[in-house]
Amino acid sequence: MSKITELVHEANWKEEKHVPVIECPDQVKNGELFQVKVGIGKEIAHPNTTEHHIRWISLYFHADGDKFPFQVGHFEFTSHGESVEGPNKGSVYTHHEIAASVKLGKSGTLQALSLCNIHGLWQSEKVIKVI
Ligand SMILES: [Fe+2]
Repeated sequence: MSKITELVHEANWKEEKHVPVIECPDQVKNGELFQVKVGIGKEIAHPNTTEHHIRWISLYFHADGDKFPFQVGHFEFTSHGESVEGPNKGSVYTHHEIAASVKLGKSGTLQALSLCNIHGLWQSEKVIKVI
């Protein structure tokens, strides 16, 4: 039996459509708000259909030297074309991209984890420096 952490996939986002892409400055000022965007399928589009879609993205921050990461936010995507008329007949689809406003007091690593309803868990990370 595998541990769940062994089932989390990593890959190059330019070659694999499931990898969350974290976009934010490489360097920010201590205590100053900045925006972090996380999206799936930046280079190769991921489907967004009733049968195949991204369920959620969770964003974490792990400060340098800290033992534990902290969750910045959890974002659920709950509309994928569902309808009483059948799959993909609905009029609303939540796109799998988020933006969060964040401030930091220490350098560290932003980590994103996402779930595709049929292809499982995917992660990525981005180092960010606080000056
Ligand atoms: Fe998928």
